[in-house]
Amino acid sequence: MDLDLLYPEVADLRRRARRRLPHFAWEYLDSATGDESTRARNEAALDAVTLNTAIFGGKIEPDFTTTLMGREQALPFGMAPVGMSGLIWRNAEPILARLADETGIPYGLSTVATRTPEELAQHIGNQGWFQLYPPGDGEIRRDLLKRAKDSGFHTLILTVDVPVASRRERQRRARLSNPMRITPRVLAEVAMRPAWALAMSTNGIPKLATLEKYAKVDANLPSTAHVGYLLRTAPDWGYLDVLRTEWDGKLVVKGVTDAADAKACEKAGADAVWVTNHSGRQFAAGRATADFLPEVRAATKLPVIFDSGVRSGTDILRAIALGADFVMLGKAFHYGLAAFGAKGAAHVVHILREQMIADMGQMGISKPVQARDRLPSLAK
Ligand SMILES: Cc1cc2nc3c(=O)[nH]c(=O)nc-3n(C[C@H](O)[C@H](O)[C@H](O)COP(=O)(O)O)c2cc1C
Repeated sequence: MDLDLLYPEVADLRRRARRRLPHFAWEYLDSATGDESTRARNEAALDAVTLNTAIFGGKIEPDFTTTLMGREQALPFGMAPVGMSGLIWRNAEPILARLADETGIPYGLSTVATRTPEELAQHIGNQGWFQLYPPGDGEIRRDLLKRAKDSGFHTLILTVDVPVASRRERQRRARLSNPMRITPRVLAEVAMRPAWALAMSTNGIPKLATLEKYAKVDANLPSTAHVGYLLRTAPDWGYLDVLRTEWDGKLVVKGVTDAADAKACEKAGADAVWVTNHSGRQFAAGRATADFLPEVRAATKLPVIFDSGVRSGTDILRAIALGADFVMLGKAFHYGLAAFGAKGAAHVVHILREQMIADMGQMGISKPVQARDRLPSLAK
């Protein structure tokens, strides 16, 4: 099957993913919180970014390589951490880790993944980032950091935008609970999705593999992203200071939405800030990420990573034009996985790259960062 012909954009993969996932798994992947208006604003704000084209630019040889925190990346985008990936598709974490390694882009492994850092060590090559939901217990935190480091994860992502659980009404209505109850309704939803059911049947019930070790939490049950709550604390600035002394690799603060916070992260010794609103999964009254990205960019010299609402290569170029150094995607790779397994995730990389090539030709630029010269406000 020619995926490029039949599924030329991420939206096509999303539609197929919806048809292939049981309702509860789809709602887990696709939902935001409240009326989901933050999610809608994220997408609308990106849509609203226009860039100038250029003529007589000659032939363009696209060069996507970029250096981020001292490491060369083959493309200006990577895979954001997604908890319970294994609920979306069988072996999601190893599949994505291998794809990241082969492609030369980072992969973020979530604290609440269904595979451990130790299990991923053989797949991830040099592209492993480990995402930390901040445990309140120092001993558990230090153990997690050691496990990540020993498994070859060189960059730590501290996620700070989940100080409390959000309500995620769509997930509630889909009966995603913690612990999840295997009701007749859940079984019926699974029965209606044979490809998913078959794949899962050889893999066992997805569980919070990394946390199992510490678990007073019942790690044996699939659940929403909130299941890590027993380990998770609401960090203050002191927490960042402590983490900075405990982790000697690169440290990224994920969840920055404000210029002053970005400055404070820089002062505290962070190596990058990650502009995101968790794709609208935490707060329905949040500003669109594309709206505050330029403010954060102007406030700090640190690399700025960006996500939330990115669905195309065009969106990646828009974010870079607004000041992002690097762009991450969460749902898109999982739409690909749910649509076509490993092939679908790889197809997402292909789509994003091809879209950027087409756009860069229009803009007459050979490097994505030159999109900054194409913002209309800079037009001569
Ligand atoms: C199903 C799902 C689970 C997520 N789990 C985590 C997580 O465990 N840790 C984390 O830092 N962010 C998590 N995120 C947020 C992503 O890392 C990322 O910020 C977001 O998905 C980017 O928006 P996008 O999905 O529109 O690309 C999750 C997002 C989704 C959709």
